Amino acid sequence: MTTQPPARTEPLVLYVDDERGNRVVFEQSLAADFNIKTAADPDAALEILAEHEVAVVVTDMRMPTMSGEELLRIVKERWPSAMRMVVTAYSDIDPILRAINEGLVARYIIKPWMRAELSQVLRWATEAWQLGRNSAAIQRRLLETERLATLGSVSSMLVHDLKQPLMSLVVNVEILGELANLVPLLREKLDPRASKQHARASELLDELPEMTSDVKTSIDHLNELISSLRGFNQQRKMPGDIATDPLPILRHAMSVCQELTVQVSSKIEYDGPRALPRVRMAATELTQVMINLVANGAQAVAARGEPNGRISIVAIEENTMLILEVKDTGIGMSPEVLKRVGTPFFTTREQGTGLGVAQCQRLIGAAGGRMSVASEVGIGTTVTLTLPIAN
Ligand SMILES: Nc1ncnc2c1ncn2[C@@H]1O[C@H](COP(=O)(O)OP(=O)(O)O)[C@@H](O)[C@H]1O
Ligand SMILES: [Mg+2]
Repeated sequence: MTTQPPARTEPLVLYVDDERGNRVVFEQSLAADFNIKTAADPDAALEILAEHEVAVVVTDMRMPTMSGEELLRIVKERWPSAMRMVVTAYSDIDPILRAINEGLVARYIIKPWMRAELSQVLRWATEAWQLGRNSAAIQRRLLETERLATLGSVSSMLVHDLKQPLMSLVVNVEILGELANLVPLLREKLDPRASKQHARASELLDELPEMTSDVKTSIDHLNELISSLRGFNQQRKMPGDIATDPLPILRHAMSVCQELTVQVSSKIEYDGPRALPRVRMAATELTQVMINLVANGAQAVAARGEPNGRISIVAIEENTMLILEVKDTGIGMSPEVLKRVGTPFFTTREQGTGLGVAQCQRLIGAAGGRMSVASEVGIGTTVTLTLPIAN
């Protein structure tokens, strides 16, 4: 009697690569932990996607019949819940950047990959997919974020609107306090028996010190409420628990862009301390920023086409901030280009999308950081990032 192995019910991971050797290695090294199918080309992948519920699509970028990018676009449209990832030998930086900046891929993996690393990324992706599959849970989370967003904007409006009248209360209660100190003197001038008004005035004077102190207590209370509202806003914008080590990300960005610079006998170098403080920005976002900026530098150096070009990443810790500079000795930007850089879809490169710098600005701003660009034609470009250090 033979027994069939039970059909696997774990989330399905689909790996697409035209090189047989790559498919074999992928399957062999990960089959123990994941439910894997492989496809030799995007068409075969689309067939599998049509027949099975696929949790994660991992694709190579360069394939003869259809590029990985095209495949990802189709998957995004037809099976939007599937997680999309790229495995690439990174000879082509532009398609990767496009895929990242347009939200086509959740993660990308550089060949040759390490089993442990890939396994970790796949674990994350399958878990994220399972979480997203439960539509009720997603809806709840969406509602939650929406409510948080609304609460956040209402509270910042309230903070703003409450501050003005509160300031005038603070000033006036000081004056009332002074008046309260003068009560004995004023009372001497009044004769409660002289008239009804005198009687009422002296009653009020008796109550003045207590009234003033009550108003002061109420102001303190309002102040506390306002600070807690403000605290809520800040908390919503920057979760305190994000702490990312920038160094591995800098190295990763350098290695992704290495090939581009080697082709023109130029170099990418890191110029900073051996250890850096953690920053308050998610790792995936910082990765996106650094790859975009280093790629821009490398492309500018390559466009210049002279040997011995340099892209340097400079890191300086300054109080509560980490300053990261990405400098290049590339073609530089004219004042007109410099003015428009960062406008979505502005590009001067044939293969460009004009989304890189715009994305960087958005992500850096959301993390509470700053970004500035200085450039001169024929000299080069320096992009300066200032990022808050995590507590
Ligand atoms: N380091 C740089 N050196 C020279 N020009 C740059 C640099 N970075 C960006 N640019 C200019 O800004 C434009 C927009 O850059 P970006 O937003 O990254 O989009 P893309 O790289 O797709 O063109 C580029 O096309 C280029 O003209
Ligand atoms: Mg770019």
